[in-house]
Amino acid sequence: MYTSALFGSTWAQFVLVFTTVILAAIVIVQRWSKTRTDNLPPGPWGLPFLGNVLSIGKNPHLTFMEMAKVYGDVFCVKMGSQRVTVLNGAEVIREALVKQARVFEGRPHLALTNMLTDGQGIVTADCCPKWKEQRRFTLQVLRNLGGGKSNLEAKMMEEIGYLLSAMKDKGSNSFNMDHFLEISVSNVICNVCFGRRFAYNEASFQLLVDSIYRFSEIGTTAAAVNFFPFLRHFPTPELKEVFQIDNAMRKFLHGMIHEHKQTYDPELKRDFIDAYLEEIKRREAECPDQQNFFNEKYLFHIINDLIFAGTETMSSTLRWALLYMIVFQDVQAKVQEELDTVCNGSVPSLKHRSKLPYTEATLMEIQRMANITALSYPHKTTESTELCGYNIPAGETIFVNLYSVHVDPKCWKDPEVFRPERFLDADGNVVTSQPGLMPFSAGRRGCPGESLARMELYLFFTSLFHTFKISSSPDNPSPSIDKHYGISLNPSPFNVCVSER
Ligand code: HEM
Repeated sequence: MYTSALFGSTWAQFVLVFTTVILAAIVIVQRWSKTRTDNLPPGPWGLPFLGNVLSIGKNPHLTFMEMAKVYGDVFCVKMGSQRVTVLNGAEVIREALVKQARVFEGRPHLALTNMLTDGQGIVTADCCPKWKEQRRFTLQVLRNLGGGKSNLEAKMMEEIGYLLSAMKDKGSNSFNMDHFLEISVSNVICNVCFGRRFAYNEASFQLLVDSIYRFSEIGTTAAAVNFFPFLRHFPTPELKEVFQIDNAMRKFLHGMIHEHKQTYDPELKRDFIDAYLEEIKRREAECPDQQNFFNEKYLFHIINDLIFAGTETMSSTLRWALLYMIVFQDVQAKVQEELDTVCNGSVPSLKHRSKLPYTEATLMEIQRMANITALSYPHKTTESTELCGYNIPAGETIFVNLYSVHVDPKCWKDPEVFRPERFLDADGNVVTSQPGLMPFSAGRRGCPGESLARMELYLFFTSLFHTFKISSSPDNPSPSIDKHYGISLNPSPFNVCVSER
């Protein structure tokens, strides 16, 4: 009896194991043949429901580079139940974003961003005639506000003046520059949008700056809802806080728009809001019967985008600039020597820029090494296409690993080494065309704030190092250059000591 019972249970186990193996084999063969016939990019197996989220971990840009070693530069991962194609390396990313620009210009529908923006504005809007017109208009206004470049240059120099004087007030004490940088660069973009700067201690401005930086701290955690949309019914504290921040921003920005409408004068084009209000009126007058893409709701979303996109990116890059310069004192000294020779005692300005190749090369190397937007904002294919021999379906979410471009061994020798000279040719001139440098991304979604950002970085950087010798604080003489993944890649907090030159 025991034997038969034992035999019976062994037989049952055998059947169970056999059936499981057969089922697993069927699933494997089905998935394998599906991949083959669909010719989709390969990728790692994912867990049911979670996909590859756990194995992607806290540094997706690094995990994706490891995965690329196994699966190649184009592969798929599962974020929850959603498949995402990941692109790595300069060649593949240029092929997609530049050569197939129209196909890769979409933005996926993401739950959180849609709740916040309703698909409006520039950053998160999918490509459609409305987005194209708004983006073109924004680019044109940014260009006009910047050129007369001298106008914007003067405003930036005024802001830099406040920063330098706040730094001088610190005397020989060591201090953290984060808040000063955040306030200064926020004021620059506020000047572009609202035509004015705010005093450092103005309460509404403090709230604006705090909201932006708090969002960048918690944004990635709250963004889990993008791939697990059911989470919106169980909001985490971070998700709740994101909505509070959104409310504060709405109040502030609508207040600004209202103030501009009250004081609008067609003769005075003070800033972005004025230019947009003028465009609304122009379109209403020219085509009163047509649906007007230009309206106040859209204006709100665009200035929201400009303020978010133009603040954290700038302060993060400047934070890295300070850190690399205090770690690589020899580079700081060379920059200062060049500034002293070229500017000859006067304040560095745009007119000196073309004569400062080493300084320009240092800024390029800082952007390459800092990699603040390691993964660009997700893209989406607008139609099915072929990339590197694989089929990429229409509507596919695409992650662009910009980090992988900046450490691509096909473009860079010793990519982990900080060396500004790599951007100089044998005659000491800047090599401007570098396929392996893409801090602003590329193609139809490439950053529209690029030239403004480059001008701002140049002016802040040259003024800071022309005025001060900056070094690490005695309590942390060798600050780490390790990166922390968030909305931007940032270093750990560090203090500086400044001495006037
Ligand atoms: C160092 C500073 C900056 C860096 C590194 C940077 C980088 C980027 C990157 C990587 C993207 C995503 C492109 C893509 O999806 O492929 C982007 C988009 C964008 N950036 Fe910047 N950016 C900077 C400064 C600015 C500034 C100052 C502004 C505003 C004046 C701005 C406005 C935008 C906007 C509106 C988009 C969305 C473009 C679109 O979706 O069509 N950025 N930026």
